[in-house]
Formats: sequence, structure tokens, C-alpha cells
Amino acid sequence: MDLSEAIDTRSSAIRLTEPAPVEPEIIRILEAGLRVPDHGRLAPARFVVFQGDGLERLADAMVASFLRKNPAASPEQSEMERKKVFRAPLIIAVAAHINREHKVPPAEQMSCVAAGVQNMFLTAHSMGYGVMWKTGAQAYDPLLNEAIGLYDDDQIIAFLYLGTIAAKGPVKSIALEDVVKWA
Ligand SMILES: Cc1cc2nc3c(=O)[nH]c(=O)nc-3n(C[C@H](O)[C@H](O)[C@H](O)COP(=O)(O)O)c2cc1C
Repeated sequence: MDLSEAIDTRSSAIRLTEPAPVEPEIIRILEAGLRVPDHGRLAPARFVVFQGDGLERLADAMVASFLRKNPAASPEQSEMERKKVFRAPLIIAVAAHINREHKVPPAEQMSCVAAGVQNMFLTAHSMGYGVMWKTGAQAYDPLLNEAIGLYDDDQIIAFLYLGTIAAKGPVKSIALEDVVKWA
């Protein structure tokens, strides 16, 4: 699949199943996340790869984060949070390790990482895998960061859910005339 086809056919996977990308494919996807314009060459991207037991650890951290925000939650609600993690056989957390002393603003450092997320998405898609870019409230919890091996002031840009497509959303397009002015 060439780049234009990958861009034109990309949409989010609504349901994912086994098998996940195998290790050499995961490495290729991670490398794609680093092939980005990077103002100041700050290399802000950080990745945490969760599969197998790692997904259990992510689920524990997600539930703990959920309960900090919702201390009165029922066991059923906690269980629902836990189950969300197992909607994909592979999740890659992509975070921006932001250098707050540098003249390059944090927004640009996060943009650099977000560009990498899209590269990762298109790379996995062109391999035939399904992908969903998620965040959720837990992506903004410093204690969750620490629980999964990031710094507390890193910013999670994506939880990238990856696997084999069980259901895929439609390719959506926005009319250019709605958003473009030729100045
Ligand atoms: C930064 C970011 C965070 C997102 N977080 C979520 C999320 O937590 N849950 C969700 O359902 N969609 C989330 N989305 C949107 C989906 O990834 C997806 O793009 C959207 O549902 C549109 O579908 P499409 O990718 O097939 O066009 C997020 C998108 C971005 C860019």
C-alpha cells in the first residue's frame, strides 16, 4: 500500500482482536513514530508497549486512576474500566517528554509527538492492522504516568490500540470548501 492509499483508506478500528503485530512489526511502527519533524531536535517521544501481562499492569493502573477520580464507583464500574484495556491485544502509550526549559514551546513538542502517532497509525494500517487512537481522562493523570513508567509531567498523547480488525469505521472526509480559504 503506498502512502496516498494508506491516507485515503485510513479509519479507526471499532473492534480489534488477535493477532497483534509481531515484534519486528512493532519495531517498525515505533520507528515510524520517530520519523517526524522535531523542532530543536528534542526527541520528545516516549513509548510504553503493553501486551500480555503488560496489559494487566496497564489495566491495574487505569482502574487505580479511575478510582482516584471516582472514589464512590461501584465494583462493576471499576470492572468496566479494567475491561476497556482488553479491547486490543496490543496498546502503545505514546507520550511527550516535554522540556519545559527549552525555547521550543510545549505545544510544539506535543505536536511533534502527535505527528509521530499518525505515522504509527498509517504504518500499522499499511501492514493491514487495525488501529484506534484513544486518550480518556486517565491520559491526564500524573500518577498513572508514574504507574506505567513515565515521568509525572510527561503528557500522554495517545493510547494506540492495535490488532487485527474485527470491525472498522467508515472512511470520513470533510469537504475542502468548508475549511479552506485561498488567500
Ligand atoms: C488526541 C486524540 C484523542 C482521542 N481520544 C479518543 C478517545 O479517548 N476515545 C474515542 O472514542 N476516540 C478518541 N479519538 C478519536 C478517534 O481516534 C477517531 O479519530 C475518531 O473516532 C474518528 O474516527 P476515524 O479515525 O475513523 O476518522 C481521539 C482522537 C485524537 C486525535
